[in-house]
Amino acid sequence: MPNPPSADGNIPIHVAFIMDGNGRWAQKQGLPRVAGHEVGVQCIQRVLETLGALGVKFVTLYAFSTENWGRPQDEVDGIMDVFSEAVANQTQALHEKNVRIVHVGRTENLHPDLNNAVAEAQRLTSNNTGITLNVAFDYGGRAEILEAVRRIIEDGVNVDTIDEELFSQYLFTAHCPDPDLIIRTGGEHRISNFLLWQSAYSEMYHTSTLWPDLQPDEIIQALQSFGSRRRRYGALNPEDQFPDGADEAKPIQE
Ligand code: IPE
Ligand code: IPE
Ligand code: MG
Repeated sequence: MPNPPSADGNIPIHVAFIMDGNGRWAQKQGLPRVAGHEVGVQCIQRVLETLGALGVKFVTLYAFSTENWGRPQDEVDGIMDVFSEAVANQTQALHEKNVRIVHVGRTENLHPDLNNAVAEAQRLTSNNTGITLNVAFDYGGRAEILEAVRRIIEDGVNVDTIDEELFSQYLFTAHCPDPDLIIRTGGEHRISNFLLWQSAYSEMYHTSTLWPDLQPDEIIQALQSFGSRRRRYGALNPEDQFPDGADEAKPIQE
């Protein structure tokens, strides 16, 4: 779905997070990496509260990528356990806050406990009208695009009707606008296979803060940075065309 204009032009409608740095956070404390994932999921409620208070409507959390299966088996198992418990334990509180939870990603390979917890969270919160929380477990942008192509072919869609709008409807994010702002914690400056189609015109904010250390003041800082940017979508804004107060009607001097 293309982005509707935001209500006041300043607050992003959709903020997506690449929640990176859990492992390094744990290692810095002399703890096993999975302890970082445990603390990481506990940060989610405060992030949502901050964004909700600011008026953000959609939040996407990149929790586990299609490439993260390549980590040591004990870390993968630990992550699946931590996420299953977090989804099971936090869903009721989120439901009471009118949050709608939507899984974006593949379900087939998730550990059964996580798959069940996510399915139950989606079912319970499906009619909620507050913030939409997209949780990306086993998500990869390339896999998502390939899956969309397969389903378009399977559906026998007429090639003349394939446009960006239709293609977007075949993605996991069909229910929400593209992210206005993508925040990556943990100091890396890359997209790591996240929302490849949807991030075409997203604003990026990178911070070296590790995910478990992310505090509301830095989220506010990221939104302030977003609010000060001018998005052009490849075109020109009127102020770019006539800089420095130049008069639009003034003829060009020979
Ligand atoms: C991000 O934290 C969470 C997942 C990828 C599951 P990391 O586990 O990548 O943490 P670092 O980058 O190693 O510190
Ligand atoms: C990105 O973090 C994926 C998630 C936050 C789920 P990674 O730690 O997997 O990314 P790379 O390996 O540094 O690119
Ligand atoms: Mg990482």
